[in-house]
Amino acid sequence: MSNVPGESTPASPSWGKKQSTRLSIATQRRTWTRRADTWDRHNDVGMTKVAAKAIEVADVKPGMVCVDLGCGGGRLALELARRGASVIGVDVSAAMVDRMIAQAKSEGLDQVSGVVSPIEHLKIDPSSVDLVISNYALHHLLDADKAKVVTAAFGWLRPGGVLINSDMMLGRGATTEDRQVIASKIKVMAKKGIPGYWRILKNAGRYIFRLRERPITPDAWMRLYGAAGFVELASVNVVAEANVVKGVKPRG
Ligand SMILES: C[S@@+](CC[C@H](N)C(=O)[O-])C[C@H]1O[C@@H](n2cnc3c(N)ncnc32)[C@H](O)[C@@H]1O
Repeated sequence: MSNVPGESTPASPSWGKKQSTRLSIATQRRTWTRRADTWDRHNDVGMTKVAAKAIEVADVKPGMVCVDLGCGGGRLALELARRGASVIGVDVSAAMVDRMIAQAKSEGLDQVSGVVSPIEHLKIDPSSVDLVISNYALHHLLDADKAKVVTAAFGWLRPGGVLINSDMMLGRGATTEDRQVIASKIKVMAKKGIPGYWRILKNAGRYIFRLRERPITPDAWMRLYGAAGFVELASVNVVAEANVVKGVKPRG
């Protein structure tokens, strides 16, 4: 066991946090690699609307350098590249990144590159990026890691650069808004009969125990943005469960 000051040991709180992060990353990698072949077909109305709003808010211009965190098969990354941006898509699942790159090649979008990495450990040069964006990925992170990633994104962005998170955003049922969102989700799933009830049970377990789904409210995201130094904070509700939250790194 090491006695180096600041180094984590099995007895220290930071050791426990590191193990939780490792477990979370391994679970996400396994889950999403299994879903890589089918996820791109997940184009329900809500998801399509939320992704479209994120792209609209991003207002990307040709030549901009963008990072898409948890890019999956490239829903946002490819769209940004079609608008002339250079995009680094980052995902914990190599199968997801492969799909994004294959699609980029098939469209001749050679300014798309992929990085297989957990968002939690991503390294990007300081002040080298115009836009950091993410769609339905950051709610998978542990809360402490959400805060770290927002702070890291602040460092990667150039002055005037923008962080956009479009995601499932709700609390744990304490507010009327939370309860309305949860009720509407249950209603939609219940309409699907027995498979729907099974999904309700599975999702309730994940949500209550925060196993893979760890959403927080738009206000909580804005607090993280503010604490990291972002300004011009804005949040827009797109569908019941999802918001797009934007912040700008001060211009100097
Ligand atoms: C719900 S999918 C969204 C994919 C894509 N952004 C989209 O809009 O279709 C979540 C994605 O986040 C990735 N992901 C989850 N946790 C991650 C982590 N800790 N680091 C990197 N990627 C992660 C998954 O592999 C998956 O591709």
